[in-house]
Amino acid sequence: MEKVELKPGIYWVGGIDWNLRTFHGYLTQRGTTYNAYLIVDDKITLVDTVKHYLFDEMLARISEIVDPSKIDIIVSNHVEMDHSGSIGKMLEIAPNAKVVTSVMGEKGLKRHYKQDWDFMVVKSGDTLNIGKRTLHFVHVPMVHWPDSMVTYIPEDKVLLPNDAFGQHIASAERFDDEINCWAVLKEEAAKYYANIVLPYGDQVMGAIKVLGDLDIEIIGPSHGVMWRSMIPELLEEYVKWATHTTPEGRAMIVYDTMWGSTKKMAEALREGLVEEGVTVEMRNLEFTDISDIMTLVPFSRGIFLASPTINNGMLPSMGGFLTYIKGLRPKNKVGFAFGSYGWGGQSVGEIEKVMEGLKWELPMPSHKINWVPDQEELDQVKQMGKDLAKHLYDNKE
Ligand code: FEO
Repeated sequence: MEKVELKPGIYWVGGIDWNLRTFHGYLTQRGTTYNAYLIVDDKITLVDTVKHYLFDEMLARISEIVDPSKIDIIVSNHVEMDHSGSIGKMLEIAPNAKVVTSVMGEKGLKRHYKQDWDFMVVKSGDTLNIGKRTLHFVHVPMVHWPDSMVTYIPEDKVLLPNDAFGQHIASAERFDDEINCWAVLKEEAAKYYANIVLPYGDQVMGAIKVLGDLDIEIIGPSHGVMWRSMIPELLEEYVKWATHTTPEGRAMIVYDTMWGSTKKMAEALREGLVEEGVTVEMRNLEFTDISDIMTLVPFSRGIFLASPTINNGMLPSMGGFLTYIKGLRPKNKVGFAFGSYGWGGQSVGEIEKVMEGLKWELPMPSHKINWVPDQEELDQVKQMGKDLAKHLYDNKE
């Protein structure tokens, strides 16, 4: 096993999940890593662990550096099992290790593993001296679980924030500048944010304010590469995402269609928007996974959703997407619902209701067309696109 040393005495000892393609429904086309960090000091400290089936890989990495039975402290920044899943096995090898975690962390770990480990509970702001270094713990509740905590090592200017700033990428490279492609890193960081952290923008901003006072040279999240060269770019994006700030003049049309009528409407709407200078992404729910569609949400001011009516409601693909987006709660969007129908025509009203619940701006009522649209009807939809375009700019005159 190759050694990956972030700073003298601090090592990455995680596991690479090359073949993971879904993470409870989130498509992880690039796989992922579970990042654990070993700090070799008077007290040998392991910060977080890996998913249970990568325990042997983590152990092999640790064994290259120290005798794993000598680990004194295991910090659990977050209870979710992709990071806590190997604590039990690690304690079998290092039975004298203390488990350092938050109050909620202790509760959660006990509920997950039914074990009364030797816990040391830390409050936000607490420190723990391990020799030449002092670990600082900051609670960041709801980024993205109530137990979430970050560990900061001021002597090395290293921040270990667990899920925050993560990306699902399995790669040979461990650092951002080794991948050296901001577009890929930004896309994966955005996908991670949009699908996992999006509902907690206020908490993320609170955490960024606290972390902003720290001197940081390396951010080691619990998934993907470590950040050391692109930290300013990353923080700039995080602030935009956390404050639901979207670029002007960008929209996304998400639809599904039965016999092509709703698709024709979607294309007409797109034409109207584009003629007014709007950049429009189109996604058909039949072909694109909802987690990939969510990646575009932070970059789209307009979100226009369309489904025909079936069985007095919408297509199940749109129902699934709405359930997902309702939970992730994007704010400051301009919405519009449309679709075709044969009789009844309930789908557009149901979609609109979800948008109202999200408190999006709805500049015009939902629109439905009976059976197959004719040219005049498509021209009307195109005009709606032109009218909607005005609402996608800060100056709406
Ligand atoms: Fe990567 Fe919330 O676990």
